[in-house]
Amino acid sequence: MTPEKKILCIGAGYVGGPTMAVIAHKCPDYQVTVVDINPERIDQWNSDSLPIFEPGLDPIVKRARGRNLFFSTDIEKGIRENDIIFVSVNTPTKTFGVGSGMAADLQYWEKTARQILEHSDAPKIIIEKSTLPVKTAQAMERILTTNHKKVRFDVLSNPEFLAEGTAVRDLEKPDRVLIGAHRTPEGKKAQDVLVDIYTRWVPRDRILTCDIWSSELSKLVSNAFLAQRVSSINAVSALCEKTDADITQVARAVGMDGRIGNRFLNASVGFGGSCFQKDILNLVYLCRHYGLHEAADYWEGVIRINDHQKNRFVFNMLNAMFNTLANKKICMFGFAFKADTGDTRESPAIFISKKLLEEKAALVITDPKALPNARIDLRGIDQNVRYVEDPYEAVAGTHAIAVLTEWGLYRTLDYQKIFDAMVQPAFIFDGRNILDHNALFEIGFNVYPIGKPALTHF
Ligand code: UDX
Ligand code: ADP
Repeated sequence: MTPEKKILCIGAGYVGGPTMAVIAHKCPDYQVTVVDINPERIDQWNSDSLPIFEPGLDPIVKRARGRNLFFSTDIEKGIRENDIIFVSVNTPTKTFGVGSGMAADLQYWEKTARQILEHSDAPKIIIEKSTLPVKTAQAMERILTTNHKKVRFDVLSNPEFLAEGTAVRDLEKPDRVLIGAHRTPEGKKAQDVLVDIYTRWVPRDRILTCDIWSSELSKLVSNAFLAQRVSSINAVSALCEKTDADITQVARAVGMDGRIGNRFLNASVGFGGSCFQKDILNLVYLCRHYGLHEAADYWEGVIRINDHQKNRFVFNMLNAMFNTLANKKICMFGFAFKADTGDTRESPAIFISKKLLEEKAALVITDPKALPNARIDLRGIDQNVRYVEDPYEAVAGTHAIAVLTEWGLYRTLDYQKIFDAMVQPAFIFDGRNILDHNALFEIGFNVYPIGKPALTHF
């Protein structure tokens, strides 16, 4: 049977993989192919053990794979055989040259654009799924349209708003789908092809269309707003610790204002993940580029507070544990940047591990999904680090626990048993405010939450 539509996605990462799996799941009459330059990644997508952990993803992939979902390394064939091409290659922050440490590194995107150009003989719709700073689609379009083959390319922006850990749910029931296209008859026609795909499972009134630049900028701004909320509540958490107010009470009172809303108000050890910092840095770079230094400073403040929050956490640990961590054993509960993912990109746990190791502490890291990535992140500096999957085994003989990821399993552990296995006086630093602090104090722990008075036996 000829498929209704043939779709290619270049880049089989945290965005490309789940997004294409959900399209294949929702549209069994489409043929969806995902390609990547990394053969190991493709092998994993084709195996029983997928390269990323995402609740609900395994069954969807397993049902569609081989039916209408295919993973391959043959990028050129993919380009030749598909007319609708999503691009979700990585766009990390530049580490060299102009804009180093701020602007997006577009070499992967550009390489892909050139590859698409080289192997296309028929008109194609190219859909930008990676996060890119504004005006990049224009640059890509230039690469694609300065071709001698006279092949037509229509470039669309379709930013992905999924969050890791809830990717499948976010893709199945998105708050909105955003499609940016040129406001020309051709652009509109290309836009309609993409609208057609999404209307298979997303209500039409949740599919927004706009021009390409507004679409790209909306993605940066959404992430900047979300990160700004976390930094705002974290800034207040510092004040709460000084004044004996309770950040949970404050967040509840503030969040019940319908104009503010109650989400993204959990004070924490700091935000991580591949998007927030990178997107804000892009926004800052753009503002500076256009001479908008006050706006740039404003957004930069979000990152400054986040860095401060991570530093404060380590400083509080040091201060509480009699100003020395040398030769003390610290157990880190969680290494992922958030719960329900094995991803550790920009995880606060990386920064905190490095700081604690500088203080000559010994670390035992436990996490249900992120230990393989933790090993990579700390490679070369982990002589004093052990990686232990079982939390009970991990805490044995340690002086302190630092909760860095809000995994549900940490709420239900037997803390009496844990206390008995630790060196006394035992400390818990709850960087996610997920534990029952009074109960821990009753057991005998010295408890240090975020943005609340510490409960200590001294
Ligand atoms: C984010 C955006 O939510 C998503 O729309 C976009 O597509 C990609 O970036 P993600 O980074 O996967 O998603 O996770 P998110 O849930 O936004 O959390 C980001 C970080 O903020 C995590 O480290 C999380 O622990 C932290 N966070 C979040 C808090 O510290 N407090 C909160 O209240 C919420
Ligand atoms: P994201 O979170 O944005 O999905 P990832 O790093 O998880 O980022 O995924 C990006 C994927 O893109 C990686 O698997 C990487 O190997 C792939 N990739 C990067 N450049 C290219 C390219 N030129 N062609 C094909 N795949 C690429």
